Amino acid sequence: MKTQVAIIGAGPSGLLLGQLLHKAGIDNIIIERQSPDYVLSRIRAGVLEQGMVDLLHEAGVSERMEQEGIVHDGFEMAFAGRRVRIDLKQLTGGKTVTVYGQTEVTRDLMQAREASGQITLYTVPDVALHDLKGENPKLTFTHNGEQVQLECDYIAGCDGFHGVARQSIPEDSIKTFERVYPFGWLGILADTPPVSEELIYASHERGFALCSMRSPTRTRYYLQVSLDEKVEDWSDERFWEELKRRLPADTAAKLVTGPSIEKSIAPLRSFVAEPMQYGRLFLVGDAAHIVPPTGAKGLNLAASDVSTLYRIMCKVYQEGRTDLLERYSEICLKRIWKAERFSWWMTSILHTFPDSDDFSQRIQSSELDYYVHSDAGLTTIAENYVGLPYEPID
Ligand code: APR
Ligand code: PHB
Repeated sequence: MKTQVAIIGAGPSGLLLGQLLHKAGIDNIIIERQSPDYVLSRIRAGVLEQGMVDLLHEAGVSERMEQEGIVHDGFEMAFAGRRVRIDLKQLTGGKTVTVYGQTEVTRDLMQAREASGQITLYTVPDVALHDLKGENPKLTFTHNGEQVQLECDYIAGCDGFHGVARQSIPEDSIKTFERVYPFGWLGILADTPPVSEELIYASHERGFALCSMRSPTRTRYYLQVSLDEKVEDWSDERFWEELKRRLPADTAAKLVTGPSIEKSIAPLRSFVAEPMQYGRLFLVGDAAHIVPPTGAKGLNLAASDVSTLYRIMCKVYQEGRTDLLERYSEICLKRIWKAERFSWWMTSILHTFPDSDDFSQRIQSSELDYYVHSDAGLTTIAENYVGLPYEPID
């Protein structure tokens, strides 16, 4: 088998890159470890920056998002029994975010992929990467019981944090940066109306809580929990009771509860691998970096990596600009580190840290109070939340 760009992973990064490359006439094949149903069963974040919305439009997969996505002009931060609104639109000169689930983005991309006729091989358990430093890199794997060799010009590692792409780079050619937080998020999905029209990020001494949504009839709520908590110990009733305790009383009084349709715990981590390339392999999205979910940046960062790699590939194939290839990592990392900083900061000011002393707690609440009562502070939060501009490639 032969293609121009071999893509490992059919998550949002791999599928979006594949779709954009296909539209530009660049042939690609996607190899995914799981089945399509498994990929669609993962519940992930749901807040899209305008840059990602525009990119989905460019890829020709924005129709349903434009109908069903909900544009949010602001969000709220709750603490000390009060709610403060961050008016994104007013503070950023008109920018907004769109609430539309990652699962739906993935579904739309899968449909477009099928319609495009480009090949996607699912349920491939054993992809291996070869000759990354040479001019003819290859993937080998088993498909339908047969050994396959896929020759290509370039490989895009879109295979997430636990994927094989980053692990195929020799240890002395990559440096990683990491922070693991001493808590996780317990999330539930429920068919209940949202407690408020906009998202509420709540800081409370019992721990952080987030009120989010997928639609006017489906909600997604999260609670900060300690790392030793088990999902089995959290009945729906216990979840709702704890959520109410962490919200301002008037908000808690309005909360509509109901049976959960999904419940899971995710750890929080900040992680960056540098550089994001090795020879003809390019890491994209979660394969190269992870953010804690507090700023809703994970999926959006994956989209800006895709945009950068896609634009470079277009210049390479259309104008012979192979010089741009070696700049991929440097261009991506500028924006990534700013989003890492924002996600770390949002996590730091809103969560309860188990090892924090009295002094640190006072500093933390005073920082939050300062930011939300200063125009400069609010503007800083807003411009990061809607997403910093994509870096130019040339
Ligand atoms: N071979 C083939 N596919 C693999 C392999 C492998 N060895 N390892 C992992 N994969 C697949 C996974 O099954 C998954 O479908 O790669 C895909 C990676 O998808 P994601 O983990 O969703 O990562 P990405 O596409 O970069 O999406 C961006 O940012 O913060 C997050 O929630 C956000 O998941 C989103 C992500
Ligand atoms: C979500 O809706 O799942 C969500 C929203 C905002 C976040 C994180 C997750 O910051």
